[in-house]
Amino acid sequence: MQQFKSIGIIGAGAMGGGIAQVAASSGHKVWVYDTNKNALASCQQKLADILQKLATKGRIPDAKEILDRFSFVSDLADLSDCDLIIEAIIENLDIKKSVFSALEKIAKPNCVLASNTSSLSITSIASACEKPERVIGIHFFNPAPLMALVEIIPAIQTDQSLPGTIKNLMLQWKKAPVIAKDTPGFIVNRVARPFYGEALRIYEEGIADIPTIDWAMTEIGGFKMGPFTLMDYIGHDVNFVVTETVFQSFFYDPRYKPSFSQKRLLEAGWLGRKSGKGFYDYAENAISKPAEKNEALGKKIAERIVTMLINEAVDALYLKIASKEDIELAMTKGVNYPKGLLQWCDELGSDYVLANMDQLYNTYHEDRYRASVLLREMGSVNAEFSASVS
Ligand SMILES: NC(=O)c1ccc[n+]([C@@H]2O[C@H](COP(=O)([O-])OP(=O)(O)OC[C@H]3O[C@@H](n4cnc5c(N)ncnc54)[C@H](O)[C@@H]3O)[C@@H](O)[C@H]2O)c1
Repeated sequence: MQQFKSIGIIGAGAMGGGIAQVAASSGHKVWVYDTNKNALASCQQKLADILQKLATKGRIPDAKEILDRFSFVSDLADLSDCDLIIEAIIENLDIKKSVFSALEKIAKPNCVLASNTSSLSITSIASACEKPERVIGIHFFNPAPLMALVEIIPAIQTDQSLPGTIKNLMLQWKKAPVIAKDTPGFIVNRVARPFYGEALRIYEEGIADIPTIDWAMTEIGGFKMGPFTLMDYIGHDVNFVVTETVFQSFFYDPRYKPSFSQKRLLEAGWLGRKSGKGFYDYAENAISKPAEKNEALGKKIAERIVTMLINEAVDALYLKIASKEDIELAMTKGVNYPKGLLQWCDELGSDYVLANMDQLYNTYHEDRYRASVLLREMGSVNAEFSASVS
């Protein structure tokens, strides 16, 4: 079994800093590299502050012990002794490929090279390397120290034993690892698309306003945050770009079609919470419109969005993107859904979910509302996922 002693992190931003904290807290020596000296200094300061705070609260015994494991460096060659290097730089394929190509020249022969990309193809990143079999995706969620889920994504060139090795390492880091096929959005960013997309569609059709849809999804659906509150929180620059990338990467499948309402917010610079305005106004004296707390309307909204989410999860299972257990774990640990979507399907009845999908299809006659082949198979005999083999 490969030993991972020193970990290298490329990119000292939000994700790089978080992953560095997780690795150092698990006992590794961690080298953080960034081309931007200010980003490095700010990462160092943030880590010191966070670890100090955790020590004060008694969550860790000693901040200094962990802080001493970090080295912040501006020369890539300083990562030459690392056993695993995780890249978390800007989401740009050409730049990532050039970094991987440079990395290969300085890394040890058996060093594993990983990318934290949210939306790019790991296979494409690996193609920049002469030894692509040691390249893999390790996708953490934000904030990395708090979010348990980690998606492990082997490229088609990746050594077949590597996903299992990385899974063990992630378990040692007290994470909840899942293995996903190298397809757009992996598990979470694929299956979660209708949470935003269908909410936007319901709003654009004038079925309900924004506060009402958010109310329906939290109060009736049981989600921690409504879709519009969540999009404002994530930021439209991030959320819209993920949707657009997934849509393009799926060869323009209408299931993932982005919305003009969100695109206009982005164009206006109304990015959500961080810019003070998005779907909601975050000014101190802003008056927000109350939700229309109509139970029948709320149930219709929540059921429509949940039906679309279930269909997406079932289709991911049908296309072998991940195992049944990993799809459930991904949505409960990665985006805190109240329950796994396949379990939800069982509870509602697969025949009922299929009927809802077919009703949407019959109404709109759009490919967006086509039921997954697996949902049709299961629904036609009201079969349960809990009783089936993944
Ligand atoms: N922010 C999220 O919610 C999130 C979640 C999961 C995955 N990701 C992915 O993680 C990666 C990083 O995202 P982030 O939000 O931490 O970005 P960020 O902008 O906070 O940080 C990126 C850092 O990379 C540095 N950098 C840029 N080009 C570099 C290069 N060529 N060499 C070395 N350093 C370089 C920048 O100076 C910056 O400090 C992206 O691939 C993103 O898709 C982000």
